[in-house]
Amino acid sequence: MPISTRQASGGFAGEVSGIDLGRGGDFEQIHRAFLDHGVIVVRDQPLTPDVQIAFSGRFGPLMGRRPSMSDKVLMPGHPEITILSNKKKNGEGVGIADAGRYLHSDLDFEEKPNLATIVHAVEIPPEGGDTLFADLELAYATLPDSLKRRLEGKRAAHTFAKHYQEVMAQGSKRKPLTPEQVAALSVTMHPIVRTHPDTGRKTLFVNPGHTTHVEGMEDSESQDILDALFEHSLNPEHIYRHKWRVGDTVIWDNRRVMHNAEPYDMERYTRHMHRSCVHGDRPF
Ligand SMILES: [Fe+2]
Repeated sequence: MPISTRQASGGFAGEVSGIDLGRGGDFEQIHRAFLDHGVIVVRDQPLTPDVQIAFSGRFGPLMGRRPSMSDKVLMPGHPEITILSNKKKNGEGVGIADAGRYLHSDLDFEEKPNLATIVHAVEIPPEGGDTLFADLELAYATLPDSLKRRLEGKRAAHTFAKHYQEVMAQGSKRKPLTPEQVAALSVTMHPIVRTHPDTGRKTLFVNPGHTTHVEGMEDSESQDILDALFEHSLNPEHIYRHKWRVGDTVIWDNRRVMHNAEPYDMERYTRHMHRSCVHGDRPF
């Protein structure tokens, strides 16, 4: 069956069919769909960790351990895969139970943020736990020209520390980071409008979770601009809501979209996923 891509219902994402993720031969077409849509969905394909790692590696070098994460959440024997799960083994969580429950782009607080994230669904709850994606390329394209001009050449600060402190203060059951890990959570400046290195198109690169302020700007003006950008980015026309099914693999472009994992009833249901991440370049 030839590979085909159609717009996913209710949003900008692409649903790709006719491919076998275990065979690398279709990668150029998959990559094309990835660049065209920013988020692509492949349904009904259980993936072994080895296949997921091999497929993810086609996008670029994979991420391993990060200072912002505990090693305990990495898949034993496959540290390229992070477990996102509320399951427990011997009374201890096997993965991150509350990952990404806020709008963010993965590892945007690093010098070279994440290029792509690949998440494979092994178990999902019958309700809740959707992932929302906002297309920041579309958001940029639909900004008023006056605001685009104000953003020209501007940079903003990104840090994981803000979110980490917030979730710990709210009583997250995550294993606390060591003092060394916390110290490694630096602040990084990135252009507010970045140019996608593969498509050449411009996209916003700010998110409420990690972006704290606009460089060289008074706090109130900086907050006003960021609030306006966040509100505009969350316009329903820029959103795709992914309702997970077992066997889904969703691949997103962190250079172009931000995402938010919605909560579900963790006392009643299990959600278990495998995530792999691909290194990117310094934004420009
Ligand atoms: Fe994330």
